[in-house]
Amino acid sequence: MIHVAVFGYGTVGKGVVEVIDRNNDIVSAASGDKVSVKYILDLLDFPGDPNEAKIVHDVNVIISDPEVSIICETMGGTGAAYKFTKAALEQGKSVCSSNKELVAKHGAELMKVAKEHGCTYLFEASVGGGIPVLRTLTTALTAERITRIAGILNGTTNFILTKMEEEGAGFDETLKTAQELGYAESDPTADIEGHDTARKISILSDIMSGHFVDSDNVPTEGITKIDKSDIALASGAGFKIRLLGIGDRYDDDSVRTMVAPFLIEKGHPLAGVCDVFNAIFVTGNILGDTMYYGKGAGKLATASAVVADVIDAARKGSSTMYCGWDETPVKAADSSSAKSRYFVRVSEADAAKAKALFEASTDIGVSDGKAGFITGPVSDSAVEGLDKSVIENMIRIYE
Ligand code: HSE
Repeated sequence: MIHVAVFGYGTVGKGVVEVIDRNNDIVSAASGDKVSVKYILDLLDFPGDPNEAKIVHDVNVIISDPEVSIICETMGGTGAAYKFTKAALEQGKSVCSSNKELVAKHGAELMKVAKEHGCTYLFEASVGGGIPVLRTLTTALTAERITRIAGILNGTTNFILTKMEEEGAGFDETLKTAQELGYAESDPTADIEGHDTARKISILSDIMSGHFVDSDNVPTEGITKIDKSDIALASGAGFKIRLLGIGDRYDDDSVRTMVAPFLIEKGHPLAGVCDVFNAIFVTGNILGDTMYYGKGAGKLATASAVVADVIDAARKGSSTMYCGWDETPVKAADSSSAKSRYFVRVSEADAAKAKALFEASTDIGVSDGKAGFITGPVSDSAVEGLDKSVIENMIRIYE
């Protein structure tokens, strides 16, 4: 018997118990022994829940039980989740996590602890929910030098941008609809300001580079400034707007990361990713481009990835599966001379004044009294030095 414990009986934790139960024959056969949930750690009691008898409040009950060999950490956060994960790994218990915040901050250390104690730390569900992208990067693509990872990594913001596009609606009213439908949290800050995407692109860039990419150092811009006229003007010029997390790796192994909305040509596969779906576009030096697409969030999609990690942990026993990364900070690329083309939105009256700020520009039309144009390539440092008093919004073109 493979005894599993679940830390945190929230949405994903419940999903993990459900997947292990519903697919028990498949999960057990793939693991090489019967898989069973022995404990669930939570502060609450869940009276009447079918798994009520498995609830414990003291983590030490689980950590000190030699029968438990695998833990699913679905608590979230970097406080108790960090302490409990480390304690479990130090006892040789493998941990399978959906906690992107913890992986982004302490992943390298926790993988090291796992290795030292003959167990494994796995976290497929932390990026792209049910999309098997970390496993792909660390198995199928290991012969590649990955030079770029660009992803739509947040379902909430992709839902909002898609709805604004389909319904011609503004940001605030669409956010409200997303909250009513359960696609956005009551406090949506981490999603709409891009912090969730920053954590996920950090983890992907950690794997790409082999070194620590601190999510706090990722230049991050969310979608709150996007207006329905941006979407209409972009659409008229053949673009969609998507929030991307991007990691670029250069020949000298330096890495540049960024989270920002981008205008993406409608023919690009990332532009076709709609609603709550996620997609990760990976460029390798030999293989070229590949894209991984699917449900990036949600109870069962995320739980499915956690349980796949449980199976891996069971199969590999004491070996560490992921190639991982070390704790050395990655070399940051000097991006001051990097150039991008921009979409610019201004009021019609200010269009001439705004265009005069750029060496080259192409008009793309007028919508709701707003004029849009696309600039020629401009460096980051030049953009920083611009007098932006008449500019209402500037969004990079993805290329
Ligand atoms: N809030 C996240 C999203 C959940 O919208 O993608 C999954 O990490």
